[in-house]
Amino acid sequence: MASSYVNNSIFLLFCLCLNFSKVVFGGDFNIDFNIIFGDKRANIQNGGNSMILEMDKYSGSGIGSKNEYLFGRFDMQIKLVPGNSAGTVTAYYLSSQGPHHDEIDLEFLGNLSGDPYVLSTNLYANGNGGHEMQYYLWFDPTQDFHTYSIDWNPQRIIILVDNIPIRVMHNRQNIGVAFPTRQPMRLYTTLWNGDSWATRWGKVKIDWSKAPFIASFRNFNANACVPSSSNNCYGFNGGKNKGLNGETKMKLKEIHEKWNIYDYCRDFRRYARGLPYECCKTNNRKNIQDVDFE
Ligand SMILES: *[C@@H]1O[C@H](CO)[C@@H](O)[C@H](O)[C@H]1NC(C)=O
Repeated sequence: MASSYVNNSIFLLFCLCLNFSKVVFGGDFNIDFNIIFGDKRANIQNGGNSMILEMDKYSGSGIGSKNEYLFGRFDMQIKLVPGNSAGTVTAYYLSSQGPHHDEIDLEFLGNLSGDPYVLSTNLYANGNGGHEMQYYLWFDPTQDFHTYSIDWNPQRIIILVDNIPIRVMHNRQNIGVAFPTRQPMRLYTTLWNGDSWATRWGKVKIDWSKAPFIASFRNFNANACVPSSSNNCYGFNGGKNKGLNGETKMKLKEIHEKWNIYDYCRDFRRYARGLPYECCKTNNRKNIQDVDFE
């Protein structure tokens, strides 16, 4: 009896691994993450349901996922450092390791009380960054929790705020533009001192008399693929991210017009010798079926 039970459960396990390439995590900070710096300043609470990051003048703090993921949708509710948060950076990002790393970034740049936070997004592909787009938010992100999501699949990356897409990055490998499709990434959230550049280009420094600075996180959820010998992840589409419909394109355009404050594709000073290839719409149109708003 005992041995047939064991055989059955091994058989079942084997089938599950082969048939389902996705792995769903209900989100327990204790199970899914390690503290990567700041020791007790990263404080997991409520039995793994929520977490706070603190920064004092000795250190910030951060956590990183135990798993590496290749594609998936990652949702996190975040309440940012309140009051005078100038110079602080709260980051929520995916990153691979090594010299030609990939990274998908959301960085929240703090500000003086009453002045707006900036959400700075960026992409590194094969070690190349420089794809920043920055936004003001349409709410005070320090008053309540809001959901910030990265939805990454082989075709495109969508960044969402409260389920509203604010930025889409398409895979343009077919026209020679690097895009993250090969390197698995870990998910990180960190709180650190960015006062050399973050707030008004480094003019406003951290007021350490206001320390400790605290950002709060809860309801982490990943619907993501963990690569292994039986999972290659390339067929994965856990984020229901299957092309953009007309409504989504309209919303993106609206958000861009109202809330975007920096777009690398319009930075003619930085790219005086010519904008990156993917910034030119005619280059994009050459080889792509679904031309979306950029
Ligand atoms: C901070 O507030 C100033 C003044 O409103 C604004 O120009 C700036 O974009 C805000 N954010 C950052 C991160 O500097």
